[in-house]
Amino acid sequence: MDNAYVQALRKEVKKAFKNNKARYWHTIGVANTCACLAMRYGVDMERAFVAGLLHDCAKCYSDQELLKACENYSIDISPSENVSPYLLHAKLGAYYARTLYGIDDDEICSAIRYHSTGRPGMTRLEEIVFIADYIEPFRDKADNLDEVRKIAFEDITEAIYRVTNSTLDYLKKNNNPIDSMTEETCKYYSALLKARSNNSETEENNV
Ligand SMILES: [Fe+2]
Ligand SMILES: [Fe+2]
Repeated sequence: MDNAYVQALRKEVKKAFKNNKARYWHTIGVANTCACLAMRYGVDMERAFVAGLLHDCAKCYSDQELLKACENYSIDISPSENVSPYLLHAKLGAYYARTLYGIDDDEICSAIRYHSTGRPGMTRLEEIVFIADYIEPFRDKADNLDEVRKIAFEDITEAIYRVTNSTLDYLKKNNNPIDSMTEETCKYYSALLKARSNNSETEENNV
């Protein structure tokens, strides 16, 4: 994966989003943020950039189109995805990354697949795409953005816990359907943080 390949892919994505400039700029924001987080956490920068470029490649479809495409390609549709088909853009995006954009890197496809819900035990690349989608520079909605942007570069585990926790709060408050995977991700990262703080207490007590 060299620079020429990445630039060619960026042009393809730009063409695909020609009718939605905001989505293109969100995509560029995510790809650039992925590259910055990759530098910070020692992950391959080009792979992170490509995952960011393609993470929303199936976002330009209507609910009906998403449902139909997933049925055609035998992609599982969960009860919450049936209620909110836009959630399917992550699964379909992973499928299109492979079939339309020729990505044969399983981890990149999996990072696209889990970019909106996360999953317990994400790889570092998956974590980077998940967080970049939330903090990229063109985002401006979430109240805790400044805080999460800073924490993302200090402690990505803590950032993932904060993002999933505040997403669940928001969805509950607004009576929106909750994907059980988001709950599982939140529980997993909360437990990871607790285990880490218990370990450091034990270490301190043993000194
Ligand atoms: Fe998305
Ligand atoms: Fe996105």
